[in-house]
Order: sequence, then structure tokens, then C-alpha cells
Amino acid sequence: MKKRQELYAGKAKSVYYTDDPDRLILQFRDDTSAFDGRKKEALSRKGMVNNKFNAFIMGKLEEAGVGTHFDGLVSDTECVVKKLEMIPVECVIRNIAAGGLCKRLGIEEGRELDPPTFELFLKNDELHDPMINESLAETLGFATPEQLARMKVLTYQVNDVLKALFAAGGILLVDYKLEFGLFKDEILLGDEFSPDGCRLWDAKTREKFDKDRFRQGLGGVIEAYEEVGRRIGVSFD
Ligand code: ATP
Ligand code: TYD
Repeated sequence: MKKRQELYAGKAKSVYYTDDPDRLILQFRDDTSAFDGRKKEALSRKGMVNNKFNAFIMGKLEEAGVGTHFDGLVSDTECVVKKLEMIPVECVIRNIAAGGLCKRLGIEEGRELDPPTFELFLKNDELHDPMINESLAETLGFATPEQLARMKVLTYQVNDVLKALFAAGGILLVDYKLEFGLFKDEILLGDEFSPDGCRLWDAKTREKFDKDRFRQGLGGVIEAYEEVGRRIGVSFD
């Protein structure tokens, strides 16, 4: 697989064409951003850690029958994926209240959410990824009702698989964001699953092991990502 010109440079990853028109290379960079890019820093080893973390999770999801774009690792910081036509809607599941939900609805952080909630956000940096709903997504043409229904089923399926995987390592999966896209009419999970796009707490102490360490300036960000990885069986060698 040969890497060709850059297609897109996002806030944390760069995307490259390859010699296969149906495949892209995702390069995980050390760049870390929060608050719509207002806080930015390069964290040494993050690209490698998130690339390997994501590869491990995508493998577990595939094993459980969730179709993903992931094809394989090509280097410590790069992987090959199927080129998707991304659906500009972010799917968020929350098992425990934290972050935006607490701010928006005045709910105390840490409250268990049973059943877990499902929210949609429009992927649009300029508008700060506003919350939307299925009606808006349909009428404004971001996704069809069938696509939205499928994304919801897949997002909950991912929850069942990953909640159990993290629980076995003594970690609570608090919330997370998924992105989907179309590959030859099939909806596949795209983008990444890493501690950058979810919240992970120690089950006993509720210590944060995710990007909130960066958002809140707690330090030890990458060490925390590696600790979660080790607890669930990711190899960073
Ligand atoms: P955000 O951080 O808000 O997700 P971003 O665009 O800055 O936005 P990055 O992760 O830096 O995010 O960039 C990766 C980009 O590649 C994202 O826009 C994502 O939607 C896109 N992408 C991920 N997987 C695929 C894929 N299989 N095919 C096409 N595009 C993809
Ligand atoms: P949320 O609490 O709504 O946002 P905030 O990051 O402002 O606290 O996010 C819920 C989870 O989804 C959290 O783990 C972060 C993740 N997420 C992203 O990574 N990117 C996004 O654009 C959105 C909307 C959520």
C-alpha cells in the first residue's frame, strides 16, 4: 500500500490517499486539542498510543460483528482504512453523566444513566458541533432515517461490547462519540475509538484516564491512556 497526497489534515489526524482508490491512510499525530481548538499541545507518544489503542478496539468490535473501516496497522502511528463517505453526525452514548450533559442540564457528574442515553451532534467545527436530533438530521439532509436507525443500533452494540471490555480491566466507560460513514452502501464505523473521544474512569476511585486530564490540566495524559490500554490488553511495543 503506497501513501499518496494528503486529503485532509484534522486536529489530531492526517488523512492520506493511497494507490488504492478505496483505501486511505490515517496518521495519528501527537497534536491534542480541546475546547474547539482553543487549547492545543503536542503530547509526546500520543499518535502511537492512540493508533495502537484504536487498532485494538476496532479488532474487538469486528470480532463482535460490528463492521468497521479498519484494515490494519502500517506503522506505529498509521493505519489503513476503507475510504468512507462520512456522515456528518456524531453519535454519543452516555452511561454516566459527565461533561456537556452536566453543564446543559445541571445534572451532577457521576450519576448513572439507565438506560444509557443517545445523542446526535452535527460535525461542524465553525458551529461548535451543535446538538441536533433525528428530525433535523433527516429534514436538513445530514442522514436518512434508515441511516440514523442503523447508526443508533450500532452505537448501542458498541456500548455492550466496550462496556464489558473496559469493566474487565476495572474501568468504567462513561461516555463516547462515534462517527460512521458509507462504504459501497454499507454503514461502517469510521474515525477512531481512543481515550481522546470518550471518558474512562477507574471503577473504584473514579480517577479520570481520558482526555479530561488534558482539558482540566491534570497532567499524566498519555501515561493514563497507556494505563487503560495495559489494563484491557493493548500492546504498545
Ligand atoms: P474532530 O476532532 O472534531 O473529530 P477533525 O476533522 O479535526 O475533527 P481528525 O481526527 O483530526 O478530526 O481528522 C480525521 C478526519 O478523517 C475526520 O474528519 C474524520 O471524519 C475523517 N475520517 C475518519 N475515518 C475516515 C474514513 N474511513 N474515510 C474518510 N474520512 C474519514
Ligand atoms: P460531551 O460531554 O457532550 O462534550 P464535552 O467534550 O464538551 O464534555 O461529550 C460526550 C463524549 O463524546 C465525550 O467523551 C467526548 C466525546 N465527544 C467528542 O470526542 N467529540 C465531539 O465532537 C463530541 C460532541 C463528543
